[in-house]
Amino acid sequence: MQPIVIATWKFGELAARAALPLLTRGAAALDAALAGAQAVEDDPAVNSVGYGGLANRLGVVSLDACVMDGRTLDCGAVAGVENIRHVAALARLVMEKTPHLMLVGEGAKLFAVQHGFPLECLHTPESVATWQRRGLEKSTTHLTHDTVTVLALDQTGSLAGVCTTSGLSHKMPGRVGDSPIIGAGLYVDNAAGAAGGTGVGEEILRIAASSVMVESLRAGQTPQEACELAARRIVEVGKRRNVKPAQIAFIALDPRGNVGAACTAGTDFHFAVGRGDCVEMKQAVAIA
Ligand code: GLY
Repeated sequence: MQPIVIATWKFGELAARAALPLLTRGAAALDAALAGAQAVEDDPAVNSVGYGGLANRLGVVSLDACVMDGRTLDCGAVAGVENIRHVAALARLVMEKTPHLMLVGEGAKLFAVQHGFPLECLHTPESVATWQRRGLEKSTTHLTHDTVTVLALDQTGSLAGVCTTSGLSHKMPGRVGDSPIIGAGLYVDNAAGAAGGTGVGEEILRIAASSVMVESLRAGQTPQEACELAARRIVEVGKRRNVKPAQIAFIALDPRGNVGAACTAGTDFHFAVGRGDCVEMKQAVAIA
């Protein structure tokens, strides 16, 4: 089976370039997806994920992440974690070392320290300057929420996914979006496929988007159809609620290596696809 990795946004290219060589050498999907997500967590220039992520209203960087293994439906998540950079790896440890699926806040931080994660300041000079500048702006259009979601299919035909973010910039302290919620920001099942979302977490949560997409794959739809279904549902729910559809995008991957992506109109969503020895950027279909 030819392995494949897909990842959200332009910085998804970094994730795909980190994950693809591992998949090509025979790594498991979860190891490769995690390496891809971690490359983005480490990049200070990406201000919505990991180190250099934009802070909440109090100026605190608070991270969310989850992982899921499509072979077993094993999954783990962390939310509202401060001073820990590699929260996707921490989510994996929750999956592997605890009987639980999610740890939050101080409990997640304590668990991280117990397992040797260093406590770090996650601010960079640039992220502090951007946070201060944006805090003075009246408009909310600057609020960023660009999660990296990485989906991988390995040589054995197994799927896995990882999702990691600092969430909405200037979010209320304690606010958690879709990214660490299994079934919202991510869902993976080898028997059907893998799917993930990025964008305004509240609206992704409202429709349990990744679960919707994976169930659509299970029912025989293609990854492209599954992503368009979820994007259409976001638009329809926006109409029912009499609000402008939020900026949201979806990606999906099936066990045969077919990929799909869709976004709501105005989102301008690009994503990376890596297979063979090549990573290419693609633009998603927009649904109005
Ligand atoms: N999708 C990321 C968030 O809303 O937190």
